[in-house]
This record gives sequence, structure tokens and C-alpha cells, in this order.
Amino acid sequence: MPIHARDHYWVLESKNTAYAFGVANDGALAHTYWGPRLKSPGDYPEPLPPTAWASFNAPGQLATAEYPGYAGSNYVEPCLKTTFADGVRDVVLQFVRADVIDGDSPALSITLRDAYYPLQVVLHYRVHEQYDLMERWVEVKNLGDTPVTLERVWSALWHLPLGGKYRLSHLAGRHIDEWQLHREPLNVGLKVRESRRLTTSHNAKPWFAVDRGVADEVQGEVWFGVLAWSGNWKMVAEVTDFSSTRIGIGLNDWDFAWRLTPGETFTTPSALAGYTAAGFGGASHILHDYIRDTLLPHGKHLHPVLYNSWEAVFFDVSEAAQLQAAELAAQMGVELFVMDDGWFHQRNYEDAGLGDWWPDAVKFPQGIQPLIARVNALGMDFGLWIEPEMVNPDSDLYRQHPDWVIHFPTRTRTEMRNQLILNLGRSDVQAYLIEVLDKLLSEHNIVFVKWDMNRNVSEPGWPDAPGDAREIWVRYVQGLYHVWGTLAQRHPQVLWQSCSGGGGRADLGILHLADQIWVSDNTEAVARLAIQNGFAQVFPAITMEAQVTQMGQTPAPLEFRFHVSMMGSLGISADLTRWTAAERELGAQLVAQYKEIRPIVQLGDQYRLLPAEGQPFSAVQYVSPDRNESVLFAFRTHIPEPVFLPPIYLRGLDPDGCYTVEGFEGTRSGQAWMNIGLYLRLKDLESKLLRIRRVK
Ligand code: DGJ
Repeated sequence: MPIHARDHYWVLESKNTAYAFGVANDGALAHTYWGPRLKSPGDYPEPLPPTAWASFNAPGQLATAEYPGYAGSNYVEPCLKTTFADGVRDVVLQFVRADVIDGDSPALSITLRDAYYPLQVVLHYRVHEQYDLMERWVEVKNLGDTPVTLERVWSALWHLPLGGKYRLSHLAGRHIDEWQLHREPLNVGLKVRESRRLTTSHNAKPWFAVDRGVADEVQGEVWFGVLAWSGNWKMVAEVTDFSSTRIGIGLNDWDFAWRLTPGETFTTPSALAGYTAAGFGGASHILHDYIRDTLLPHGKHLHPVLYNSWEAVFFDVSEAAQLQAAELAAQMGVELFVMDDGWFHQRNYEDAGLGDWWPDAVKFPQGIQPLIARVNALGMDFGLWIEPEMVNPDSDLYRQHPDWVIHFPTRTRTEMRNQLILNLGRSDVQAYLIEVLDKLLSEHNIVFVKWDMNRNVSEPGWPDAPGDAREIWVRYVQGLYHVWGTLAQRHPQVLWQSCSGGGGRADLGILHLADQIWVSDNTEAVARLAIQNGFAQVFPAITMEAQVTQMGQTPAPLEFRFHVSMMGSLGISADLTRWTAAERELGAQLVAQYKEIRPIVQLGDQYRLLPAEGQPFSAVQYVSPDRNESVLFAFRTHIPEPVFLPPIYLRGLDPDGCYTVEGFEGTRSGQAWMNIGLYLRLKDLESKLLRIRRVK
């Protein structure tokens, strides 16, 4: 059984790891252990007796509190901050009871209650035993008859072993430059990563990996975690004055408040975290497996090779040009044709049309059904781009409902890309979007939708909000999940892609709805290697939509561009009429090759052999779950002469199996191939794709 409970003390064990906490003798919940699973449940440490440090540091300052409230003289980062109806801003949580649920999905809930006020807090823990992951979320319930204001309510606080010196890995960047991997030492004080943009953001990602400064891709202890949420979030790594390191993660408290009415329960998003001794690669494998096996709406259904019209025509959409592109795409073996922005009412540029989700009558006098029928006759499925949360002031919708956007009445409504944001917290907005998009999906044979979001918030007002107007940060995301979830449930055949001007909304929350993510608007192949390397820290290849385009002053050779995109879910977005016949022929061959290796890439284990972290070369390997097949991608960008490419050590093969590696002589054991190191000769901007096969 993975959850051991004894006398106010709990140990949660997964396949290889364990997490323990208990009630200390001052009645507070104290964390005691997170690391490798020990031989017996009795091996885990008990809570330390509470201690103080002179008159300036009470026990709360030194304790490893499992879920600290803002109370007393605790100056550490709290998980919960409230104001009660009488103005008291101090929440004292006391243990009430624990409930263990055994079975397929073992769980533990710890019920706490404020010492004076009728406020109940339930800490939920679920053990994903086979994935070595633990999920935590919190419910706060108002049992009284006056409202309580929640000002911070985090999902989890994760304590690292005391006394350690740690290094934080996190993802940073900006639009067209997302997913850059940063590693830096954690020193005393706070390191904050967050989004205040209403959505997950391009700039920071709700993911962390912490090691002792010595882990690499294959070895070393790594504690890692994510937050499954697509709105404002916050992650605070704190090294206290007493050498305790902890990471709090949850909804962002910046400008946040929630008026918890009598009887109401507030539920936080889930935080997931794990421990591995197998380095950063090991941490990624755990997340990849969990996401692929349990989250994606269409599970392990292989993603089609798609063509997307954006980079070919931008807003200059016409039926004739779409048809021409469709014919060329079909000849190259594309399986799904996606019409991007520019197809709907009055959408000739980015200054009009958002909100009016029906085909433009000038561009499509008979609607889009004839185009869809032709695409289907060419043997391809059809997909469509939408941006439901947005409205252009120049649209029928805005003219009818100017009050539907997020705004403050006395302030200018700041436009970005000429658009404003509909307040998805409002039920009338949700109902409108469900109705208009349901009609679109019901009347057309659409099996793929790219859901975009091309700006971040400004003037976050909600003039006639039913509760506290600062609830908008959460209610907007709940509204988004409701609209998208309703459409997904009514149209189960649709595969959804989450896009926000590239990778602005990529998180484990949105992956309950979307099967794939548009990683970045930067499709220049060399830049893309680092972007994909960052993305892969968290997400499996099946979720990584990657397109071959013409981006860049001098685009890399076509084969190189294809190889970069073949490491995820392959797509093409380019004006194919400008490709030569030879280029289209090469493209067709590579699409065919991709279809052969697709199950290995999309469903296999990924190994970053030479991670693209500031290097002029990189290599990534994928191994099928049965370890019978593998594929190696290697890239050289630019290295000044004299050149020495490092050897590549394969991974993930069955050490006792026999394998051949394309381009290398002989049959060797997996053990041999993984230890001898392969030298590849590559020129600048050259790439290689090598198949590796088990010999029976
Ligand atoms: C931003 C997306 O990231 C692009 O791929 C494209 O869909 C444009 N929006 C269309 O406006």
C-alpha cells in the first residue's frame, strides 16, 4: 500500500520515491522527508521538536511547515492568506483528521481548521505510484455565515532536504524566444517566477527542477514540479535564514482576491512533483510518461502530418490559393490541411473580424464547406484556426456588446494587435462562444482546431462583477475551461491545439483539453533546437507541433528543417508554389519517412544525448517502448574550424539486445552501442537521421 498512516504521521510511497510529514508536538503539520523510497515505512524521520531562535524567530520560522498560513510570527512565505469578516488577517490552521483512500488511485486528505473561525482547509494528496509523481491540491471551505476573503491560496509547498545547497532550473523567454533553459544557484532569499498576464505566458513557465548543482541528463538527484493551470501563477523558491529550501507553487496572489461566501468551497489547481536520481532526463521521462498516458484527451492516438496556411498567405486567404496549397500538400503526403487566420467575416488584416466566427462572404461566397469537401476528396482531413477569447473593436460582436470586454470604465481600453479580451468570467460571454463555435463545428467536417490567443491582459477590470472584481484572474480561466471543455465534449472527434502567439499557453491544465501545443512562432530551425530542448524538459514529443517553414534570412537546408520538425508532431507551413519540384519531392520523401518513425517519436522515450544548450551541435534519440526500434537525430549548426564534434553515446537500448545502427558497420549489443560513442561527420547546417534496429 503506498500510503502508510500511523499516529498522526503519514508516508506516501511511489515506485521509487517517498514523501512524509506528520503533526509535530506543537500541533502543527511538519514536513519530514522527500527523496528515495527507504527500505521500510519505519525508516522515515519524525517531525523535529519545534525550536525558536532568540526573541526574533519563533518556531514557525524554523519549522518545515507543510502548509503554513500567514499567522503569528512566521516570516516565511505562507501558502494561505485570508481576511476574516471582522478584519482579522491571521489564519491558524489546526489538524482535525486524516482520511486515506486506497485503491487504483491512492489518496490522502488532511483536514485542518482555523483555531477560532469556521474555516476548513483540506490538503489533498494523490500518489501516482507508477509515475513516481505526487499530486497536491487544496480545498478551502467557509463553514460560517460571513464571507472570508482569500488573498493567497497555493496548491503546495515542496520542502527539499534540509541543509542542502541547490540549483534551480527554470524556463524563461519571451514571444518568439520562449522555452530558454536557465540554471542558477539558489541563494538565501526568494527567487520568484510568475505570470501576471492572465495566461500561462511566454516569459516564464510553471515548472521547476532543483538539483544539488551536479546533476546532468543521466544522473544526479532532481526534485521537480509543475502547476496544472493556464492563468496567473506564482512559484517562489525560498532559502530561509535557517538553510531550509522550499518551493511554493500555486495561483498568483498578485492583485488576487476571492470572496468566499458562506458554504462555498474554493478549489486550487493541482501541483505535481517528483523526485528522481536519474538526472534531468529522468525527470523529463516521468513528466512525459504521465502526460502521454494520463492527460491527453486523445491519449496515444498518433498525430497527423499537417499543413498550415499561415506562413504561406498570412491574412491573404482566398479559396483558390487554399485549394492550390491543399493539392500540393496532398501530393506530399500531408494528412490534415489547416486553414489559419484570415477566413472569417471581414478578416482581411489584424484590425477587424475577431468575434464574428462565420466564413467571410467575399472570400467564401458558398461558405467553407466546398473547400472542406475538396480537401477531404484529396484524402486529407480539415482543420481550422480560431481565437475565441478576443474581439476587434471593428466587429459586429463588439458593436453589439462593448461591455463584454475586460476593462475599467474610466480607463482607455488598451488594444494590442488591435484587439481586446472578452471577459470569459461572464456567463453570457461563455454562452455566446459555446453557441457560435458549436454551430461552426456542427455544420462543418472539422476534425482539428487551433485555438489561439494573441495578447495579454491590460486594465483587468470587471465593472459589474458578482463577487470581488479581482476574482477575474481565476474566473476567466474557469470560463475558458468551461467553454473549451463543453465544445470538446460535444465534438469528441476534434483534436485541439493550444496556441497563444506561439507557446504562450502551454501547461498541464490546458493539456486536459488540447492534445498538442504550438510551441513557438519562431520556426527558424537553428533557434528552434534550443526552443524544443526547453519545451522537452516538460512535454513529450507528441504534444510538440513543429512546422517546416521558410523563416530566417537564409533558411537552413530543407532536410535540416525537416529533421528539426520531425522530432515532434510534423507540420509544414510555407508557400509550396515557391518550392521547386525537387524540394517538394524531397519533402514528400521526408514526410513518408516521418510516417515510418512517427510511433517511435510520438510514443517513445526521448533522450537528449547532446542537449541544445548553447552548443553548435545537438543530438536527440527516441526509443520505442519495446526498445526494438530507435531513431537518432543529430545536428551541427556552426562551429569554427578546427572542428571536433563530440562522440554521441546512445541510450535507452536493451543492453542484452543486438542492434544495427544505420551508417555504422556491424551488429553490436545495446550495451556496446551505448558505451562506444559514435562519431558523426557533419558540416555546418547539416543534419542526420539514423535508424537503429534490434536484430532478432
Ligand atoms: C499567432 C500564431 O502563433 C500563428 O501561428 C498564427 O496562427 C497567427 N497567430 C495568426 O494570427
